[in-house]
Amino acid sequence: MTRDEIIEQLAVKDPAALFAEADRVRKENVGDAVHLRGLIEFSNVCGKDCLYCGLRRSNRHVGRYRMEVDEIYATARQAVALGYKSVVMQSGESCQYPTDDMCRLVARIKSDLNLAVTLSIGEKTRAEYAALKDAGADRFLLRFETSSEKLFGELKPDSSYEERMRCLGWLRELGYQVGSGIMVGLPGQTLAMIADDILLMKKLDLDMIGIGPFIANPQTPLEGSSCGTLDLTLRTLAVIRIVTRNTHLPATTAMGSIDKQGRQKALKCGANVLMPNVTPTKYRAQYQLYPGKICIEDKPGDCFLCISGMVKMLGRTIADDPGHSLKR
Ligand code: 5AD
Ligand code: SF4
Ligand code: FES
Repeated sequence: MTRDEIIEQLAVKDPAALFAEADRVRKENVGDAVHLRGLIEFSNVCGKDCLYCGLRRSNRHVGRYRMEVDEIYATARQAVALGYKSVVMQSGESCQYPTDDMCRLVARIKSDLNLAVTLSIGEKTRAEYAALKDAGADRFLLRFETSSEKLFGELKPDSSYEERMRCLGWLRELGYQVGSGIMVGLPGQTLAMIADDILLMKKLDLDMIGIGPFIANPQTPLEGSSCGTLDLTLRTLAVIRIVTRNTHLPATTAMGSIDKQGRQKALKCGANVLMPNVTPTKYRAQYQLYPGKICIEDKPGDCFLCISGMVKMLGRTIADDPGHSLKR
């Protein structure tokens, strides 16, 4: 699709045909199996001050936590007990964990638990990414959030777009399966910008792409801004599926948080991945990037039952392999 065609689809009056085509492309390229990635939100400490995010360092309303390495390991073991073949370890940025400790943890999870390990811990040096890869990390998620350099600069005052792109390049060179993505409906974001985001995703030849609606957080400077809609998020997802063919695309927690059926709808217009939360319940309320986040009172087993029921209701199956990239 050209840029103009993408913009046209993002604005199309009735998206039914777009969604049907995305569902067809999903089935043809990645099949009916849904991959589950157990999400471990292991620390909400963050050194950055992104305007949209509840974990930003200036937010005094959050009680900060950092799980001990042994507790993270035990949580990964619980993911295995629930049948998950992969985990995503996520935290705020500029972590307090020495890289050596993280490497030992990753190596232990890899050797004892045989899980595919995805890291989502923000910008690091090339040497740190290399050490974590050597320790056994398979994948890395680092959303570029928006391809508009101007908007990026406004929303992430202590990051640079150039550095973000450099990080994504390093991750690729080092042999990670690379995931990135955006928020839909950011203040100041236009359909043309989203079209450019999608073309950049294609150019980066991403293995995984995560997107979600922007949800205004009252504990941040973007309090009172209008939120992204599920409708535009699903259109964006559908176009990404059609343009990128065999990428792994999650039905994200943010989609499920702005609409009770958000994830189910996403699975019907391009998505093939779900990320059940396995974080211990006592931490969940403190890991709120945005208000209204689902699952904060649930236990890992509740999310497993909820998500396996969802997959069954949709007539899909749960994949029994780790769901590595289909691109390489
Ligand atoms: N609304 C929606 N998504 C958000 N994220 C952070 N803050 C918000 C918000 N207020 C997303 C960002 C980040 C990911 C982990 O969560 O895209 O990369
Ligand atoms: Fe920190 Fe990430 Fe939130 Fe930015 S989006 S404030 S880097 S946790
Ligand atoms: Fe957590 Fe539904 S996925 S309760």
